[in-house]
Amino acid sequence: MVNRGKVKWNALRDLLIRNDQDHVVPFFENLGEDRHSELLAQLESIDFSQLRREVLRLRRPSCDGSRLRPATCIPLPGTTTEKARWKQAWVDGETVLRRGEVAVITVAGGQGTRLGFDRPKGFFPITPVKGKSLFQLFAEKIRAGECRYGCTVPWLILTGPDHLEETKAFFVEQKNFGLREVYIFAQGQLPTIDMDGKLILSAKDSVAMHPDGHGGLLCALEKIGLLQTLRLPRIRHFSYFQVDNPLASPLDPYFIGFHTGMEAQVSSRCVRKNFPGEKVGVFVESEDRTRVMEYSDLPPECAMATDVSGRLHFGLANVAIHLFEANFLEHFCQAGRSNSLPLHISLRKVPYINAAAHLVRPVEINAIKLERFIFDLLPQAECAVLLEGRREEIFSPVKNSAGLDSVETSKRDQTRQFADWLARGKVDLIRDAGGTPPFFLEIAPSFAVSCEEFLEKWMQLEKKPAVGANFYLE
Ligand code: UTP
Repeated sequence: MVNRGKVKWNALRDLLIRNDQDHVVPFFENLGEDRHSELLAQLESIDFSQLRREVLRLRRPSCDGSRLRPATCIPLPGTTTEKARWKQAWVDGETVLRRGEVAVITVAGGQGTRLGFDRPKGFFPITPVKGKSLFQLFAEKIRAGECRYGCTVPWLILTGPDHLEETKAFFVEQKNFGLREVYIFAQGQLPTIDMDGKLILSAKDSVAMHPDGHGGLLCALEKIGLLQTLRLPRIRHFSYFQVDNPLASPLDPYFIGFHTGMEAQVSSRCVRKNFPGEKVGVFVESEDRTRVMEYSDLPPECAMATDVSGRLHFGLANVAIHLFEANFLEHFCQAGRSNSLPLHISLRKVPYINAAAHLVRPVEINAIKLERFIFDLLPQAECAVLLEGRREEIFSPVKNSAGLDSVETSKRDQTRQFADWLARGKVDLIRDAGGTPPFFLEIAPSFAVSCEEFLEKWMQLEKKPAVGANFYLE
């Protein structure tokens, strides 16, 4: 009689040896049959040859800056012609929204290490007065769009595998915040490896794994086959943003209008980089395609280069707000393509089990985390459009618990945006030189999601409420 346990173990051991991972064999040998099956399933999903290639890439010379050209964007409106163009884009975008052709994708997975929040990032309380969670804020923005345009906007939320059930339960409990179509699904994981491409063990019986990056969205979508379901009969564009940017606008008529008007396969918002060394990816052109280059890959001479007016040559920063044409996205969510995005490397300190089977917390960097990034879809597009935005209107991410890009700066930036709207509505407010009032303000998406909408409604209010500390308008 065949011993099934033995068969599994042999298969697992062969797979490890074939891929130069013999160092873990002694740890796994005496585990039970169930554990062998699980490990085998986990390891079979790993493309070990890809791992080897990535490790070699660590020793590769850096990128040749002479091949890079700055990307071009549709600038913020300045001239009369530009203003008319933006106005037309708004009208076009609203028409597309009224037809119900847009769905929203929010990436809300990852580890949130810097924020130090171990629950799903979307649960993080972020609005300045009411402390609404990121998920609630975006749900309200989408719902406001549904009401304004009389349509249904499907919302696709990518979460980490460990947070899937908790996130689903939260939305059930909140009755989807009144939204009709919410789809929550999990991203995949990749093994964490050491500098020689060897698997790291997080315990004697487990391989250390980490989320596969926001580019893992493609594999996750392929797995659930959601796009095919949604595409029929109406969705033609997917609006994408990251859950940790409260200023992101899921349904921005300007952006949608430019994207559809120019028949782009991908469009991205960009903002001006603050200073040469700022740690943001920038848009570049090479080989006739638009792409995003990570700050660490941009040669220093490119990062510093300026034009005659002193503006940074490579100064258009990626804020992870994109629009994807549905056919284009669907094409990359199919077997054989969904995992074709390149892997990016980040070097980390990751606790590991050493040869003596003890857990070690390293003081030096010891591990490679590999991730896929969604912006690598850009060079696949024949037509990619970049639309400039004002940073203070579209980007204030919550990455850290304090300091730069933190909870504090994000609440301040939200307040400043609302103060700007109120000031344009002729409300007198005390504000500092940066435009921030000395107290928090909040305008709920049910009242307005943009300055344009705010002014429309505010001007019509016969009796305007007084604005003071902790002002909240819905
Ligand atoms: P970050 O790059 O800031 O990563 O993600 P993170 O995991 O949230 O935080 P750190 O780096 O551990 O501190 C940017 C956006 O992409 C999503 C996050 O939820 C965030 O909205 N993301 C990130 C994913 O959905 N999956 C991932 O694997 C990584």
